[in-house]
Amino acid sequence: MTESAPSNAGKPKLRSRAWFDNPDNPDMTALYLERYLNYGLTLDELQSGMPIIGIAQTGSDLSPCNRHHLVLAQRLREGIRQAGGIAIEFPVHPIQETGKRPTAGLDRNLAYLGLVELLHGYPIDGVVLTIGCDKTTPACLMAAATVNIPAIALSVGPMLNGWHNGERTGSGTIVWKARQMLAAGEIDQRKFIELVASSAPSTGYCNTMGTATTMNSLAEVLGMQLPGSAAIPAPYRERQQVAYETGKRIVEMVHEDQKPSDIMTREAFLNAIVVNSAIGGSTNAPIHLAAIARHIGVELELQDWQTHGHKVPLLVNLQPAGEYLGEDYHHAGGVPAVVNELMKQGLIHEGAMTANGKTIGDNCRDAEIKLPDVIRPFDKPLKTDAGFLVLRGNLFDNAIMKTSVISAEFRDRYLSNPDDPEAFEGKAVVFDGPEDYHARIDDPALGIDAHTLLFMRGAGPVGYPGAAEVVNMRPPAYLIKQGITALPCIGDGRQSGTSGSPSILNASPEAAAGGTIALLRTGDRVRIDLRKGTANILVSDAELAARRQALDAAGGYQYPASQTPWQEIQRGMVGQLGDGAVLEPAVKYQRVAQT
Ligand code: FES
Ligand code: MG
Repeated sequence: MTESAPSNAGKPKLRSRAWFDNPDNPDMTALYLERYLNYGLTLDELQSGMPIIGIAQTGSDLSPCNRHHLVLAQRLREGIRQAGGIAIEFPVHPIQETGKRPTAGLDRNLAYLGLVELLHGYPIDGVVLTIGCDKTTPACLMAAATVNIPAIALSVGPMLNGWHNGERTGSGTIVWKARQMLAAGEIDQRKFIELVASSAPSTGYCNTMGTATTMNSLAEVLGMQLPGSAAIPAPYRERQQVAYETGKRIVEMVHEDQKPSDIMTREAFLNAIVVNSAIGGSTNAPIHLAAIARHIGVELELQDWQTHGHKVPLLVNLQPAGEYLGEDYHHAGGVPAVVNELMKQGLIHEGAMTANGKTIGDNCRDAEIKLPDVIRPFDKPLKTDAGFLVLRGNLFDNAIMKTSVISAEFRDRYLSNPDDPEAFEGKAVVFDGPEDYHARIDDPALGIDAHTLLFMRGAGPVGYPGAAEVVNMRPPAYLIKQGITALPCIGDGRQSGTSGSPSILNASPEAAAGGTIALLRTGDRVRIDLRKGTANILVSDAELAARRQALDAAGGYQYPASQTPWQEIQRGMVGQLGDGAVLEPAVKYQRVAQT
């Protein structure tokens, strides 16, 4: 029953020794040990110098996107044991993007808090972060950033491609399309469900370039996953194989004392920004990367997204910006092929270190594009200048716009007409939260026409706890029937990464935090100048001051009461979307691993 203890000569002291093998504290050592012996681990194992490797398990029946991690954990354990480690698996607060009410946005910071506490307080030398569904990836990376013990991420992988009548149906993207068809009377409720379900044919996360594929791709670019692993579909055999390799590698990382702070440097974040443009990544990425960067203490400004990302072309032809899905992305070469294509243009910091102990440059230099219609060569992009624009003005301090999803029609009307300075000016119609929008969008009395700008407020981290993905609003049904399928949408909430809507979102500060957007009234004229990056209400300062006074006298911007303790607690300490919507008091706790 004894294990041969690996030689630890020259290796860093394991932090788990403070629990399991501490000659200075024999009675506590006995206590710490006994309950880890009670399910069959032996004293020899626990005192042999084998690293204790946590498997931070995000999969469960509650979170179907990540549920396959329950299966992959077996191969992780085999890899960990093979390399001389002891696996200890524990649950992370589950998050399911589509199943959680009112929004999974609430749960990212809760899962983060819980995981920090586990990694800090238990005898764990290194951890495998099982990432996947939208918020699970940033929650895990944020916690690893705060604690800063050796950590590696394992993606669960996307679902297989969805199909319906011979056409690819992609997660989320098919929902926006089916909603329009339903609103136009082209399909009934039953067909609506059938269409949506066709996009989810297997275990795994969303198969479009939504927030999940984006964040899993960026976790690889940041260096936190083994190269080439992010895009492998969940059911493929390679997914099991990379789980095994990931398990082996984390044990080596512990022996090498390779920490998240050695990997997630500013260069790594700038690489992620560049790749995000090339993949057509989600507008949730700036929020999550800001959060990870702040918890690890890396300087990253919202402006970096425009400075380093805007000019980068869109290369990856995945829905919602393009036509393909996750399996195609993998077969085309996945993240390394995209990185290599950008590297050839000098757009990647090649020296950034990654979890396999090599630089991103060394990992990706030979990666080739295998399906050039899915991952386009740099000189044949789907779109040029595909990154985010950062907007400012008297409406908000900052907001972003994803330009890769702007249709040609929208570009012509609002962006590319230098002779018409009024091109993106119109009447505001304002909704206070998603319920208000659903109740009134089809009301003809609002007078919404082709020149209206739709505003959504009360949807930020405080106003709609966690920030709702509701800024992308469809026009009223009567306009859709006339062929106008998109209007400019602006709001203080988020937008689903699977939406192709040309929105200005994440506006900070939100209405509920005193932002000017709270003063806007239906009928006001608003002017957006995308070329200058400005967004302003065309209302006098005196009028705005009077409105501010009236709003303050009425007790400020009103929003619904909290429904749960966590909603109230988070509202009391959450920051704005432009700053990552983190728990602000948590930021000062950095590199907190105790030894
Ligand atoms: Fe989980 Fe999209 S709903 S990844
Ligand atoms: Mg989402």
